[in-house]
Amino acid sequence: MNVLDLRPLTDPDMPIYLQLYWRFRNAIATGKLAPGDRVPSIRSLASEMNLARGTVETSYQMLTSEGYLIARGPAGTVVSPWCDGRIGATPPIELSALPQVHRVRLSEFQPLQLGLPALDAFPRKTWVRLAGRRLRGMNAGDMVSGDPNGYEPLRRAIAAYLAVSRGIACTPEQVFVTAGYRGALELIRHSLLQTGDTGWFEDPGYLHSRRFLEHVGMLLTPVPVDENGIDVEAGQRLAGNARFAVITPTHQSPTGVALSLPRRLALLDWAQAHRAWIIEDDYDSEFRYHGRPLPPLKSLDHSGRVLYAGTFSKVLYPGLRLAYLVVPEKEIGRFRNTIVQLGGSPLFFQAAVADFMEQGHFARHIKKMRSLYATRREYLIRALTQVFDETMQVPDRAGGIHVLAYLKSKLSDAALAAAANADGLAVMALSEWDTRSRSPAGLLMGFANIATPTQALDQVRHLRKIQKSL
Ligand SMILES: Cc1ncc(COP(=O)(O)O)c(C=O)c1O
Repeated sequence: MNVLDLRPLTDPDMPIYLQLYWRFRNAIATGKLAPGDRVPSIRSLASEMNLARGTVETSYQMLTSEGYLIARGPAGTVVSPWCDGRIGATPPIELSALPQVHRVRLSEFQPLQLGLPALDAFPRKTWVRLAGRRLRGMNAGDMVSGDPNGYEPLRRAIAAYLAVSRGIACTPEQVFVTAGYRGALELIRHSLLQTGDTGWFEDPGYLHSRRFLEHVGMLLTPVPVDENGIDVEAGQRLAGNARFAVITPTHQSPTGVALSLPRRLALLDWAQAHRAWIIEDDYDSEFRYHGRPLPPLKSLDHSGRVLYAGTFSKVLYPGLRLAYLVVPEKEIGRFRNTIVQLGGSPLFFQAAVADFMEQGHFARHIKKMRSLYATRREYLIRALTQVFDETMQVPDRAGGIHVLAYLKSKLSDAALAAAANADGLAVMALSEWDTRSRSPAGLLMGFANIATPTQALDQVRHLRKIQKSL
């Protein structure tokens, strides 16, 4: 009889039925289970391994449908006679053997983690009700892939929202729904840019879009950022003939500064004169705690040079993977041609977001979060000031959902962030976002998931302890 390993299944990153499936496949591949070997009944294996019968049944069904096992009715289930040496040629990799980076638990998050909205404050009940209603009402038409530009009611809701909240006048036809901000960049890349095109990139700037753009063959010119945002004159000096500029004008990512009005106008003039594209990444403008927001570049764009990108990652949640892009009217055709090739986003979630917006939940949620984030931001800043005193400086920024704290010590931010990460604190080093190593040492920390002053103090004291130990 077989020599199946009956030790407990312990990989926390893989469902049990799948671990059991792989254990069988490994046993077959390595010859521990030979063709014709009888495998235990579902009931006896479940009891021996202390598993639910349904779990074992699911694994057996997978193995049977893939031809590894054959069910012979009352005679039991056996390893298929076709499972000879060939299937041992490429034994499946154990998940535990993969490098650590593949084993990040997607469901985990840390209170200081950058980029996350308050996950505890998301109106799940409303969301589940709306999504449930959509699912129950699903008809055959909803099973067809739908308009690749995006679900029309959602594009309408986005256009209406932008008109009211950002002063952007656009038609639903100008709005394209994408798979996150990177989806919007990909759409731009395929519609307007060529491999090897040069673009300005804020320095320091959003790490993930930099990596993405470089990955798809763009040549990025780092343009310094100061207290007034990206230095447009420097950009013109460094790469006056660039094809595009990627900008976060509302809260520069990661420094949080706002692009001054004179620079906004200079940037628009430059784009118009050089027929360059401005990619405006307006990723978290909803969250502002004092002062009046400056209008987005898109609202000042009279020559059709701005591509405006917004995302649902901060106002709803990043796992949705939904964002949008507003393109100049005269470019609609080009973008349509591209998105038909790239494919649209899942219809079901778009429909649920459209309902959420149309029924007023979206506006209510943003309003609530604005006040919650003001409180949570205060928790973190107070804790940092109290625990670090003069060794850390936190500039006052008007908005965003993270803080940048400058370090006044000889220790490099990368060393502190690495030690903090190793000890379970999800902070990031500013230097990682900087291509020319000109930024002062600083740490980036999210605050949206800091629920209490005590939690803020615990996190910050932990960070301080790590710093002192280095
Ligand atoms: C600067 C910046 N832009 C855009 C995004 C949105 O990215 P996505 O829509 O892919 O989640 C983020 C999210 O963290 C961000 O920090």
